[in-house]
Amino acid sequence: MSELLNGQRRSIMCGDVTTEQIGKNITLMGWVHRRRDLGGLIFLQLRDRSGIVQIVFDTDVCTNELLDKASTIKLEYVVSVTGKVRRRIGNNVNPNMKTGEVELVAEELKILSEADTTPFSIGDDGANEALRLKYRYLDLRRPELQQNLVTRSRIYQITRNYLAENGFIEIETPMLGKSTPEGARDYLVPSRIHPGSFYALPQSPQLYKQLLMIGGMDRYFQITKCFRDEDLRANRQPEFTQIDLEMSFVDQEEAVMTLTEGLLVKMFKEIRGVDLPEHFQRISWTECMNRFGSDKPDLRFGMEIQNLDQTVRNSNFIVFQNALNSGGTVRAIVLEQGADKLSRKDLDKLTELVKTYKAKGLAWYGLGKDGVKCSFSKAVTKEELNAIADTLQMKQGDIALIVADADWQTAAVSLGALRCHLAAKFEMYHKGDFAALWVVDFPLFEYSEEEGRFVAMHHPFTSPKNEDLQYMRTDPARVRAKAYDVVINGDEMGGGSMRIYNRDVQTLMFETLGFSDEQIAERFGFFVDAFKYGTPPHGGLALGLDRLVMVLTDTNNIKDVIAFPKMQNASDMMSDAPSPVDERQLEELAIKCEENNE
Ligand code: AMO
Repeated sequence: MSELLNGQRRSIMCGDVTTEQIGKNITLMGWVHRRRDLGGLIFLQLRDRSGIVQIVFDTDVCTNELLDKASTIKLEYVVSVTGKVRRRIGNNVNPNMKTGEVELVAEELKILSEADTTPFSIGDDGANEALRLKYRYLDLRRPELQQNLVTRSRIYQITRNYLAENGFIEIETPMLGKSTPEGARDYLVPSRIHPGSFYALPQSPQLYKQLLMIGGMDRYFQITKCFRDEDLRANRQPEFTQIDLEMSFVDQEEAVMTLTEGLLVKMFKEIRGVDLPEHFQRISWTECMNRFGSDKPDLRFGMEIQNLDQTVRNSNFIVFQNALNSGGTVRAIVLEQGADKLSRKDLDKLTELVKTYKAKGLAWYGLGKDGVKCSFSKAVTKEELNAIADTLQMKQGDIALIVADADWQTAAVSLGALRCHLAAKFEMYHKGDFAALWVVDFPLFEYSEEEGRFVAMHHPFTSPKNEDLQYMRTDPARVRAKAYDVVINGDEMGGGSMRIYNRDVQTLMFETLGFSDEQIAERFGFFVDAFKYGTPPHGGLALGLDRLVMVLTDTNNIKDVIAFPKMQNASDMMSDAPSPVDERQLEELAIKCEENNE
């Protein structure tokens, strides 16, 4: 039977009971986390968001009636307990608990709410993920998840304070809008009043924030939901949150980058007590690709990619020859002291790994205890092997892993993936290591084989570098953008750019992208029009808030930092969304669905 609170008040949260409360009478409220019944003595652990504390029902103090009531309590009951705090003695002290030096001796107990047996035990993070997501409200009782959401909330506060101090104002932009040219698939919302027409949920507030600059808002920010219908990964959700900002009267990347560094430094200091450098290193996109095989390099460890082109230029090994003869490259990473750690089976697995990144294979050359182990020793001379070891500065015990490819990016990216894989496997970094950098000078365009034309790498409103404007017509691939990504521990935390505010440059951009006047008018008409009426130089960036919380809470699963996340297949296990709707609702929207056999 549930009892009423009847005006009774909680005096303190469970996790806050310390030796300071010894001797005091307090009332706690929470969920029963564990229980132990030792006959005359019943121990409960009571849990709320702040932590867990031990309650004891002791025959010396309790009435029989109270003891009987306590013995009916089951796990996850919601109870209110009043009593006196006392010091635990001897073996009873639990140094692993924040409240481990004290316990509450119960004098009064109210059962506020009974609970059925839960589908999994709270605190069992090994329970099946689908089950935990179906009962997310129970999973949320897990202290780790609660702490993650507390951290998330602190990040909102830090962000709001910092940006307000820096002259930014918070402005909401519409959720129901026109599709923005961001690249992913839109989530569409049908209009009832305009049958056959659709709103798009924002992939980001990109166009609106630029319009706010034209509207004279000077410095805008928003912590907002974005929606992208793309394939999910461990660090992606179909709806996620951005810290989105834009500032006027700046035309160099530095302004936005410095401001962002300030915010991140503050966040890491306040949340983790870690001092990030005030000025993150800037590495160009080309250098990142060459050294780390990634545009979001993990700088917590070395193992940089090295170039063997000159060393193997005259090699007889056909794999090297073919790659170099077709204008390609031969590159390697060296796993220090790895020659005896990697078995033949491991090397086969690593070969499979690089193949998933389109490499044709993996060659290796190790200086092991039992001599050289080399996958291409038959095809090369001893001198050539020595030259490779020299170039790569290999020491006894090291192993070189080599990819040759006609396409430098394939060689780089596959070795980049291998580098990260090996660093994780051999624990080359530690929890609590943070390495932040800016990746700058991205190419403005990338060539789309699918579309047979250049497409914008960031978006069509990103400004080219002034010094590269001259190549817009003649050599678009050479043009670099005023775009920048901030990367921490190998994950893209955010990205942004300076925007084009000059009409001639915008026209040139559209021409290079191959848009006709009609296409421009149809896709971005209202936006392009706005630029005619006085546009300040402006730029901005968006941080992926969920990813920041992930880094700051040491999790690699984005679901751990979102209260109600979606599954890998974009469905919500708990509410069963998406789900079919009433025929009547569809009729109102003038929508007919094709038979779906799912
Ligand atoms: P961008 O597309 O790079 O830039 O997004 C900014 C940041 O948002 C995060 N992010 C995601 N997080 C979780 N799940 C996703 N599906 C997801 N997609 C992106 C990343 C990313 O760095 N309008 C531009 C910003 C600008 O130019 O100002 C934009 O949206 O951390």
